[in-house]
Amino acid sequence: MNGISRRTAAPRVADPPAVEAQPARLVSGSEFAEIRDLAYRTFGLDLKRGKEALVTARLSKRLAALGLGTIGEYLEILRRDRTGAELTSLIDALATNHTSFQREPQHFELLRTRILPAIAASSGRTGIWSAGCSTGEEPYTILMHAADALGEQHLAKLRLLATDISNKALAEARAGIYPLDKLADLPAEWRKRFLQKGVGDLKGSFRIRPDLVSKVEFSRLNLMEPFENAGTFRVIFCRNVMIYFDKRTQEQLVRRFTARLEPGGWLLIGHSEGLMGVKNDLEYVMPAVYRRPV
Ligand SMILES: C[S@@+](CC[C@H](N)C(=O)[O-])C[C@H]1O[C@@H](n2cnc3c(N)ncnc32)[C@H](O)[C@@H]1O
Repeated sequence: MNGISRRTAAPRVADPPAVEAQPARLVSGSEFAEIRDLAYRTFGLDLKRGKEALVTARLSKRLAALGLGTIGEYLEILRRDRTGAELTSLIDALATNHTSFQREPQHFELLRTRILPAIAASSGRTGIWSAGCSTGEEPYTILMHAADALGEQHLAKLRLLATDISNKALAEARAGIYPLDKLADLPAEWRKRFLQKGVGDLKGSFRIRPDLVSKVEFSRLNLMEPFENAGTFRVIFCRNVMIYFDKRTQEQLVRRFTARLEPGGWLLIGHSEGLMGVKNDLEYVMPAVYRRPV
């Protein structure tokens, strides 16, 4: 990896101010019901009963950051939130952004052995969508496999869209800077070709080569909102996102994803998800892999 320092690096996302989060009083039944209703209507997030302690713990940090003493005061802010900004922070607090490079490697094996060779043989531009991309490890993994399999000179054949509801996660994704311990997930040869090691105040980090970062189209999208204009895709990765949704929301989302897939296109979901009990028009290929019939 070549060295990069702060001067040459994309701006790093500022860390939130260190505020000591005090444990808040457990949300009351009616507060929980209001948060649950709001999260469901706005993001499709299905907060099951019994998650009161988890919700309280996750909101404590947000309350501390806003200097609020009670969940009631926080709810008042949410009720008056006309811009949607606090609602976005709510989903950041409630959902997890956990991800990693090469997560669930079976999907990348499939990408290399079946999907990318077909793309290489086809003419025209092909879309791949990472829906719920979090901090970017998933779309960059797709990109590095594509660069490897197709050759970097052919990356223009790909349109790689990466979306998430979280502005915070997207800012990190766009920066493409990660702590060095994440290198362990990537082959040594890729480190030399695709990554740059941080020096100076970026010591302890590496970044994805900026010309590669620019090949990913990052955009904020709440999957509960229309995406009919997003285009059509050969592959949609929507992994470890639907796990938060109830069956009805999953069914609607899978139907809308299906409409965005080319005939023969692939929907890849998380291995702990599965579409059991979710009506759909896709062919089951193998665990966590579905295809739109040709
Ligand atoms: C656990 S991460 C999954 C990241 C990556 N797909 C993976 O499997 O490693 C889940 C992501 O889904 C996003 N998310 C949750 N609800 C969403 C919604 N309604 N619309 C868009 N993204 C959503 C979260 O912000 C989070 O970044």
